[in-house]
Amino acid sequence: MSKVTQIKSRKASHIRINLEEDVRSGLTTGLERFRFIHQAVPELNLADIDLTQDLFGKKIKAPILISSMTGGTPEAESLNRTLAEAAQETGLALGVGSQRAAIENPKLAYTFQIRPYAPDILLFANLGAVQLNYGYGIQHCQRAVDMVQADALILHFNALQEAVQPEGDTNFAGLLDKVEKVCKVLPVPVIAKEVGWGFSAKAARRLADAGVAGIDVAGAGGTSWSQVEKYRAQNESQARLAAAFVDWGIPTSEALINVRNSAPELILFASGGLRSGIDIAKCIALGARLGGMAGLFLKAASQSVEITIQTIREIRREIQVCMFAAGAGDLTQLQHTELVKL
Ligand SMILES: Cc1cc2nc3c(=O)[nH]c(=O)nc-3n(C[C@H](O)[C@H](O)[C@H](O)COP(=O)(O)O)c2cc1C
Repeated sequence: MSKVTQIKSRKASHIRINLEEDVRSGLTTGLERFRFIHQAVPELNLADIDLTQDLFGKKIKAPILISSMTGGTPEAESLNRTLAEAAQETGLALGVGSQRAAIENPKLAYTFQIRPYAPDILLFANLGAVQLNYGYGIQHCQRAVDMVQADALILHFNALQEAVQPEGDTNFAGLLDKVEKVCKVLPVPVIAKEVGWGFSAKAARRLADAGVAGIDVAGAGGTSWSQVEKYRAQNESQARLAAAFVDWGIPTSEALINVRNSAPELILFASGGLRSGIDIAKCIALGARLGGMAGLFLKAASQSVEITIQTIREIRREIQVCMFAAGAGDLTQLQHTELVKL
């Protein structure tokens, strides 16, 4: 199988497995251990609660991120278009999935090119950081950004996923120097992102020193990529290796606190297992600017644009009511709202 065919078939099976199998981590996000203090006298008008913010030069209408997922196949093109139309309609930020397939084969670029459907949104390009150790350089990063007219580039760090994949790229040595060069030269901000196992305080500090503008903690508690790879395993032995990591990772709430404490200067996004508007609001109170969801939006987008928009509106309304009952009139106040730890 050629490299491009291999990436395409991997992407197709990732979508199928995520839609059909139980791929949840054995851990929870830890957000269930935090609660807001109810304010019976909020002194706010619900209709005036402000969910907007400016980020990387774009106006965002609600602090919800449609996390990086897909591209590279006709099915992925349709999902990306649905997500883009829904993001444009509701004013959300959106990431496309890893663009490696289209860097290797430019004929696949169309599956990622959603800018025409979402001219105003904050849009993130996406590549695996490890590819910087496998022949990729600044020009590939620039191509990924140009391909989708992105506002920023997400470099994902998926060491464990690569390690439990039969065909994984597992040389993560000496990567930080290369990330630093990309951050220095690329004209758009670079965000470091995990894929569901979170960042430690040490990892966050290293990335901040390398010059990333932000971190998406993508912690444990939601989609587990070792579980996804378990379903792709070609034999029992590979499946057992992947299955051993079902409880691995830093829960999203813990990762967020780690990163906030060790790299307070960075812009933070929280993702990994967020299931509701209240989860997102808690993440903002813990220091994030956006709360990202992947698996949940994949399921909505596989149905229709209308269902995706409806899902977004429900999450948005839940954030708004949560802010009202917690006495936070806008996102800055929410960031300064105290949570009780149970
Ligand atoms: C089908 C699918 C494909 C994904 N592909 C990528 C990817 O290409 N790049 C990336 O950074 N993250 C990717 N992710 C990871 C998500 O962005 C997210 O970090 C992770 O799934 C945890 O969020 P969740 O628990 O809300 O699903 C993917 C997730 C899903 C469900």
